[in-house]
Amino acid sequence: MISTLTYTPTIDTLSRIRLEIRALQPQLVVWRRGLHQKPELGFSEHQTAKLISQQLTKWGIEHQTGIAKTGVVATIVGNRPGPVLGIRADMDALPIHELNDVPYRSQHDGLMHACGHDGHVAIALGTAYYLAKHRDDFAGTVKFIFQPAEEQPGGAKPMINSGVLHDPDVNAIIGLHLWNNLSLGTVGVRSGPMMAATELFQCTIQGKGGHGAMPHQTIDSIIVAAQIINALQAIVSRNIDPLKAAVVTVGKLNAGSAFNVIADSAHFGGTIRYFDLAYKSFFKERIEQIVAGICQSHGAHYNFDYQHLYPPVVNDQAMADLVRSVASTVVETPADIVPECQTMGGEDMAFFLQETPGCYFFLGSANPDKGLAFPHHHPRFDFDETALSMGVEMFVRCVEKFCSL
Ligand code: NI
Repeated sequence: MISTLTYTPTIDTLSRIRLEIRALQPQLVVWRRGLHQKPELGFSEHQTAKLISQQLTKWGIEHQTGIAKTGVVATIVGNRPGPVLGIRADMDALPIHELNDVPYRSQHDGLMHACGHDGHVAIALGTAYYLAKHRDDFAGTVKFIFQPAEEQPGGAKPMINSGVLHDPDVNAIIGLHLWNNLSLGTVGVRSGPMMAATELFQCTIQGKGGHGAMPHQTIDSIIVAAQIINALQAIVSRNIDPLKAAVVTVGKLNAGSAFNVIADSAHFGGTIRYFDLAYKSFFKERIEQIVAGICQSHGAHYNFDYQHLYPPVVNDQAMADLVRSVASTVVETPADIVPECQTMGGEDMAFFLQETPGCYFFLGSANPDKGLAFPHHHPRFDFDETALSMGVEMFVRCVEKFCSL
């Protein structure tokens, strides 16, 4: 399948693709801004899916809607038999109130496309539009997977369970994330683990409340929680191989209501990140050991809940090589390909990559000169829309390279 790596487009082909895709830029911006104004949360992307379906219908692209509630899957068949390449785009927004003062500001109060998924949909639409017009330029089939609910609770798994990777079977899958940690004009790609496993835990300590001046009559849940939270910080430094990366973050702590009352209970929770699947059951066990041990030493009780949300995003070597070689024809200089791009952020693209070889990559979208460098999930997040046509060019060239039997 990956023997297509030897495909080398001529300079003429490259410039023709680029010119045609650059001409799509104003339309890409219109789609992206339209979506930006109407953000929708996971599994509620009804208007987003409708817009996608309307466009696909207009271009005569076969597709199905309502997959895993709001997902859309479209197939474009080239004029010769060949492999099936999946292209995945997530569609959901976040419960964030937008603070940008732009004409295309969110019209849904309290909701915002603060991660760039509006751009992902626009890029996938642009790619579909282009490929539907150029079926002669590739062999096989491209399957577009517009996925709901990446942010939460996760739409990739339900899409896979609905059979989107079959009939026809997807041989490989690619996807991208607009990325404000990288400058516009760059592409971040690596083989192996690229984004971290994402897990979360919640813990309630049940002590015994009482008077702030009479601690001997109580079991102070705040003291117990504080000792646990401190102890959790030693997991990464003392239990994890120093050559591996992991994060334990306690991001939430609630306890107490008055300065002179010893809190009856304390509640805290956090997230765990790591790359190496060898740690899949480790953190749950180790955290609960610490919670149980410290609670026992104080005579407190606890409730502990742990969820494995997303596995790590792990790229296939051959597909990462393909994306890297495509990127080298899209960026201006070799230095614009960021080779060891990794983040402890998580992504449910991971589930697709567990099923089929593929590559997820970052498309640089920050432009500090235009004030477009706020981090993802920030109420002022926005990106340089020039990245949109670059994203289409990346996808189109990946298709023409992968599907060039
Ligand atoms: Ni995202």
